Amino acid sequence: MQRIVLATGNVGKQRELSALLAPLGCTLLLQRDLGVAAADETGSTFEANALLKAQHAAAITGLPALADDSGLEVDVLAGAPGVRSARYAGEHASDGENLALLLQRLQDVPPAQRTARFRCVIALVTQADEPQPLLAAGVWEGHIALAPQGDGGFGYDPVFVPAGSTLTLAQWSAADKNAVSHRAQALQQLLQRWPGSLR
Ligand code: IMP
Repeated sequence: MQRIVLATGNVGKQRELSALLAPLGCTLLLQRDLGVAAADETGSTFEANALLKAQHAAAITGLPALADDSGLEVDVLAGAPGVRSARYAGEHASDGENLALLLQRLQDVPPAQRTARFRCVIALVTQADEPQPLLAAGVWEGHIALAPQGDGGFGYDPVFVPAGSTLTLAQWSAADKNAVSHRAQALQQLLQRWPGSLR
């Protein structure tokens, strides 16, 4: 069975991507279990960071690697936290600290101006010096709630209300989120272009 390294240390994303990739029948290995430390996310775009994470994992393991880079863009904050979503409140900030800072920055912003979106880019390389990496993107529009609600999911899920819903993502089931998320959209696009050599 084809082995692929998943270049993420984020448990929430691991869970989502593994569920989404299950139908392919590949064996997904976590980079941490192969002794690969997280790459420094030095890129200024989701594309650059997804690619550098996949290349880093492929270079160390010699295996094909899949990485995603994702984040939340809030319109009234000019797209912040964006590529810095995981580090919004500081280099080693927790999900709770990032979320608290976001709500603080949005304190006086009325509901109609709290529009936001999750963005995800997934990169797949079959080898570290892959000449033609595959990149796919997904976007999920919504708004930021006035206060956290629900206890599921991870990251900004307790404050993100997808367009057309009245519930935060932390109140959604994992299965419902996986069916339509920014990550699912990007992966579905990638699967359509999935290389025959990796089946
Ligand atoms: P990175 O892609 O590992 O750099 O980090 C992405 C960060 O964006 C996560 O740590 C979360 O803070 C946030 N994020 C991305 N996708 C989601 C999601 O589906 N729900 C909640 N937060 C997310």
